[in-house]
Amino acid sequence: MKIMILGSGGTLGKDFINILKQKRENFYAYTKEQLNILNLERLNKAIDEVKPDTIINCAGYTKVDMAEIEKDKAFSVNALAVFNLAKICREKGIFLTYISTDYVFSGEKTSPYHPFDTASPLNYYGLSKLYGENYIRDSGCDYLIVRTSWLYGTEGNNFFLKLLEKSESKDEITVETDQISSPTSTITLSKTIIALLNKGGRGIYNITDRTKNGISLYTFAKKIMEVFERKTVIKGVKSSELLRPAKRPSYSVLDIEATEFIIGERLPYWEVSLGEMKRRM
Ligand SMILES: NC(=O)c1ccc[n+]([C@@H]2O[C@H](COP(=O)([O-])OP(=O)(O)OC[C@H]3O[C@@H](n4cnc5c(N)ncnc54)[C@H](OP(=O)(O)O)[C@@H]3O)[C@@H](O)[C@H]2O)c1
Repeated sequence: MKIMILGSGGTLGKDFINILKQKRENFYAYTKEQLNILNLERLNKAIDEVKPDTIINCAGYTKVDMAEIEKDKAFSVNALAVFNLAKICREKGIFLTYISTDYVFSGEKTSPYHPFDTASPLNYYGLSKLYGENYIRDSGCDYLIVRTSWLYGTEGNNFFLKLLEKSESKDEITVETDQISSPTSTITLSKTIIALLNKGGRGIYNITDRTKNGISLYTFAKKIMEVFERKTVIKGVKSSELLRPAKRPSYSVLDIEATEFIIGERLPYWEVSLGEMKRRM
């Protein structure tokens, strides 16, 4: 399988490359500087040069709060570029993998979201990602849409790294107690995407690390401090007190059963993945 990775300079992209190298997969990776997916001409040219069997789009506009202000930018990267990509993939017979989010859901459920539950995003980032999903579904291309949550890794713009950075200079950090979901290590996500592709997974699947019906962001932050032996105190706060521009779902745990069924193995517990991430740093 010849794989083309787009947006390879981000949290997922960088760790995905390491996993592909480990697995000795045949891949070609492009950062935004090497290939901006908004440039349709360059995108077409690069795809024609590589002639991939599969494109994995790790590129995304991921600034959830800024997306409320920079709506056009978020829509261009998360939806419009994906519309073009799906069209190219259909025309050229290339399989497309798109990474989507738990933020397509409103958070009203109290049990994990299935891939077929109705999406109803609370913020513009989630809406732009849902547009991306729908463009792919309507395009007629062969695809895998993977929804994930609280993605973290050794590089890029993610909660885990920002928390570790802040803990170097701060004695106390406030984190939300009323947002419940499951963290996902880039290692779990990359390995499981490859496993799904190898097992012929098609359509929408959820991939996260395993929790028992979710944990709060506060619990995640406290565990990161413990595992990385930081003295910074994590103080719990309600989301409403932080006055963020974008609303977040209070509950967005994703059901991973269908994914585990297809790949024939269980996804790791979140504490195990966090420990593995530490060993890799
Ligand atoms: N982070 C999470 O918690 C989370 C949760 C659920 C789903 N996801 C999804 O998972 C995917 C990967 O997220 P991530 O955490 O790895 O995000 P990230 O760290 O922000 O990485 C995204 C990468 O895409 C690049 N990019 C942006 N616009 C581009 C363009 N026009 N052309 C090519 N590349 C472009 C970015 O480059 P610049 O930084 O230079 O702009 C960055 O390197 C995204 O689709 C995201 O929506 C993330």
